[in-house]
Amino acid sequence: MSDSHSTPLDLCVIEGDGIGHEVIPVAVDVLLRVAPQVQIHPMPAGWDYFQQHGTPLPEATIQKARECKAVLFGAVSSPAYPVEGYFSPIVRLRRTLQAYANLRPAIHLPVPTAREGVDMIVVRENTEDLYIGKEYTEDDGKTGVAKKVITRDATTRVTLLAYELARRVGRKKVTIVHKANVLSQSDGLFRRVALEIAAGYPDIITDELYVDTAAYWMVKDPNRFDVILTPNLYGDILSDMAAAWGGGLGLAPSLSLGDDIAIAEPVHGSAPDIAGKGIANPTAAILSVAMLLRHYWNLQDEANRVDQAIRNTLAEGDFTADIYREDAVSTSQFSQHVMANLG
Ligand code: NAI
Ligand code: MG
Repeated sequence: MSDSHSTPLDLCVIEGDGIGHEVIPVAVDVLLRVAPQVQIHPMPAGWDYFQQHGTPLPEATIQKARECKAVLFGAVSSPAYPVEGYFSPIVRLRRTLQAYANLRPAIHLPVPTAREGVDMIVVRENTEDLYIGKEYTEDDGKTGVAKKVITRDATTRVTLLAYELARRVGRKKVTIVHKANVLSQSDGLFRRVALEIAAGYPDIITDELYVDTAAYWMVKDPNRFDVILTPNLYGDILSDMAAAWGGGLGLAPSLSLGDDIAIAEPVHGSAPDIAGKGIANPTAAILSVAMLLRHYWNLQDEANRVDQAIRNTLAEGDFTADIYREDAVSTSQFSQHVMANLG
């Protein structure tokens, strides 16, 4: 982590596909307004790139991300069927760079779609579980099999990060979410290791929930959650649910963190239904940049400025169509208001 305000900082910027091309340039403008020392390095990845070049994530992009030690990633389109040579660039990038914890806050913002009082952070293990991509078919294609892997090492590092984060930002409770009653060897290990580490943090309340029960409470009473710690797949699903309480996917930021790497990435995908229309909400991408400033570069004032500019813009009633359709503003109108609020 860097704590000097004047050190040059490098950022590898991957727009990806779809609305990645619309929201990421806005987030970069905002970042450069508050932190002009950042050097931007644009690099390609995604489905469009795959169709032209035969790989969704060129080696040069991985190399640049490594050198920069910080990435801003828009979104990519991934088909829901197997395509020879294709893999999800973001899943691969998180694993290759060992950005092992994905922080996904859902915090109430001044929009009509958000739920009052919601204030939680999902900490999702980012490198293993069912997302290792070890899938195959048996029985002449009549049986599909996916391997789920949970390790002590990966569970240890993500748990330590969750509890250290909780301490640093003054959170009171960590809820460990798993399905150890059914998956006793994999989720059972996650649970045991997480509880062992939790014992070293007596200042923070630890509780646990099965993932189905967690989903129930997420809908019924989201305000009972503070920090949620969970394996990869459950974290993916629960954080999208949490995003609904935060006001919607267009507002939901995230940061994937490793020991010497960070990937700022909005929770949403490439949104092909609205891509190219100039109506995407850039807030998720902008708030992801704020998370990078706050939790990785340790530039608290800059992060606060970005957060406040977004809050002010929303409080003034400037909404893109995902929030409120009547009198909706375009991506560029919204962005101009954010820039004006940054001063
Ligand atoms: P999605 O997040 O792209 O879209 C879901 C819905 O939310 C759509 O109606 C979309 O218009 C809306 N939405 C999302 N972000 C928005 C924004 N910033 N402003 C306004 N509206 C927004 O999820 P979907 O449709 O399931 O997936 C589309 C593609 O994105 C798929 O190919 C999927 O694989 C990919 N994807 C990629 C991710 C990544 O690269 N990190 C994450 C999730 C999905
Ligand atoms: Mg997701």
